[in-house]
Amino acid sequence: MEDKNITKLSFSDQKIMNKIDFYNCWEDILQIEKALKINSNDVVFSITSNGCNILNLLLHNPKKIISVDFNPFQNYLLELKITAIKNLEYLDFLKLMGLKSLKNNLSIYNSIKKDLNKNARNFWDKNSFVIKKGLLNVGEQNVKNFGLFLRFLKGEKLIKNFFLCETIKEQTDYFFKHIYGMPWQLGHFFGYNKYFIRISLCFRFLIEFYHGRKKSDYLGYIKNVNFTKNHIKKIEDIYTKIPIKYNSFLSLILLGYLLNENHYYPYLKQENYKILKERIKKIEIKTASVFDTLKEIKDNSISKFFLSNIFDWIDDKNFKKNLIEIIRVGKNKSRIFYSITRKDRYIPKDILEFHQDKNMVIELLKNDRTTFYSGFEVGDIRKK
Ligand SMILES: C[S@@+](CC[C@H](N)C(=O)[O-])C[C@H]1O[C@@H](n2cnc3c(N)ncnc32)[C@H](O)[C@@H]1O
Repeated sequence: MEDKNITKLSFSDQKIMNKIDFYNCWEDILQIEKALKINSNDVVFSITSNGCNILNLLLHNPKKIISVDFNPFQNYLLELKITAIKNLEYLDFLKLMGLKSLKNNLSIYNSIKKDLNKNARNFWDKNSFVIKKGLLNVGEQNVKNFGLFLRFLKGEKLIKNFFLCETIKEQTDYFFKHIYGMPWQLGHFFGYNKYFIRISLCFRFLIEFYHGRKKSDYLGYIKNVNFTKNHIKKIEDIYTKIPIKYNSFLSLILLGYLLNENHYYPYLKQENYKILKERIKKIEIKTASVFDTLKEIKDNSISKFFLSNIFDWIDDKNFKKNLIEIIRVGKNKSRIFYSITRKDRYIPKDILEFHQDKNMVIELLKNDRTTFYSGFEVGDIRKK
């Protein structure tokens, strides 16, 4: 059932967003599972991000998961979740995640922090306000602002009731009667219009340039961003053809939090908690770029790769360099999966060892519940 104690978020939550970029999970575990079919023989190489999908993947019992992120703060987030799973009872774990009463979150954190490594502990000590709010209740306000706006216009109850629709027919009728309309259409028109995306990226580029930060491949992205008119139709289908009762992504976007247990990711479910505890040691965290991490790995040693949408932000030269390393460390018949929002990030034909699974690409595009991606790359590495 929905927990009434979940606190609402304020804009001041964004104070530390210069450190952790992704608190919430924006990639669909059902898609990753379908694409990679992880089993107990697999060694998995995956992007850490918020750590949610690392923990979800652990439930498939691979031999090992190498969890990689060049942002150390993302890895501190995963470290905290791992330490919590190792040390806490289920209810306290949910509290720390922000899914139950938050009253004693700080004392829960204090009881486990000795097991964090020094850098992670320093980080969380300094950012204890996140702990107080619950780890899944902060971040990505830019995405959540759309829901905030809709709730302001239509009222919280009307939006919440959308998630109570039991059948697809009920959901579709509710969507067109109460949710769809000018604000919804405008929000999506601006959010997924490639011209607006290009303009906003120019501003982001200037801000990063001003702060002297490491630059992503903005020019390549601006040139190749691949949201067509069909994308809004695809999003309409997500709202009307896939049960919203279980769609955690729409719950986060429209309400700002996971409404109830139906929206919990697999690793948050009570029946999986004991399994997580047993397997948690299989995660190995690396703080480095994918390329630098791959360079340290022996030939033919990884069987499954989940690479988030990292290639959207990498230039052509580095894209190719990464692919060559992936092919080298990938075992024969290993599988690769990643998400894309630009048109030039499918694996090029001259990488002869890669064989795209075309049917799976189509299936994943049809069933994705997240709204954010315009494509997926998935297939096998075949070596002689
Ligand atoms: C690509 S972002 C996308 C987030 C994603 N859509 C999600 O739902 O989690 C995920 C993570 O990849 C990390 N990242 C991006 N490029 C990377 C690279 N080349 N090497 C290592 N980590 C990378 C970022 O720091 C970020 O935490």
